[in-house]
Amino acid sequence: MKECINLDKVALIGRTYQEYEKMFRLKDFSSSKARILDVGAGVSSFCAEANNKGLKAVALDPIYEHEQSTLEKCCKIDLEKVIRELDGVEHLYIWDIFRTKDALKKQREKAYKYFLEDYRRNNFKYLAGKMPETGFKDRQFDIVLSSHLLFIYEHFFDYEFHLKTIKEMLRISSNEVRIFPLVNLKGQKSKYVEKLLEDGKYLGFNISIEKVNYEFIRNGNEMMRVTVYY
Ligand SMILES: C[S@@+](CC[C@H](N)C(=O)[O-])C[C@H]1O[C@@H](n2cnc3c(N)ncnc32)[C@H](O)[C@@H]1O
Repeated sequence: MKECINLDKVALIGRTYQEYEKMFRLKDFSSSKARILDVGAGVSSFCAEANNKGLKAVALDPIYEHEQSTLEKCCKIDLEKVIRELDGVEHLYIWDIFRTKDALKKQREKAYKYFLEDYRRNNFKYLAGKMPETGFKDRQFDIVLSSHLLFIYEHFFDYEFHLKTIKEMLRISSNEVRIFPLVNLKGQKSKYVEKLLEDGKYLGFNISIEKVNYEFIRNGNEMMRVTVYY
């Protein structure tokens, strides 16, 4: 029996601003002038929509070294694959936000189309770069987000990668880091969460785990907030 969706690499699928708002409880700073960085932003429409709402967001992802037409081709292929892969593992998801696979597909298409249009017109907001190292200055951003890169892909990225990436996110943020979700593709709490909570104590991390009002993959309704002790 299939344990979860089978992917041979990190999928190029993206979520919308509305989803980010829930995953990261963004309401608390949605009217501020906070400088936001979205790490592993991919084809999400968050950055484009946030700027259209008057926020200051930029996006980081290795895929931004490619041109729009390449990204369009790749994200269409990946979305088809993810939707196909859901067959047989529907029970790992809560079909509440999206009632059907078709509704899910439509929402993901909406996100990538919005992204692709903005990418074509405002390329400067999309910075090609790869965690765990960036060329950003210390405290260049106020808040650094990462959705569906850490924890969920624990089978592709080891603990060292997670730790280094979080350290880098903390270095470039003046305020805090938020990560969502904390489960792997089987809907189990990532084995790295516990270890990070333990190691964080010695590294001077202040880590809290908060329930949020968003759950698609079962048990994926928690966000990690990390700050540093000064
Ligand atoms: C599943 S997508 C999530 C996109 C978006 N954050 C969202 O939730 O809609 C994961 C993204 O992480 C990017 N990625 C993979 N390895 C990365 C790395 N080392 N550093 C930064 N981003 C990476 C991929 O290119 C992909 O766009």
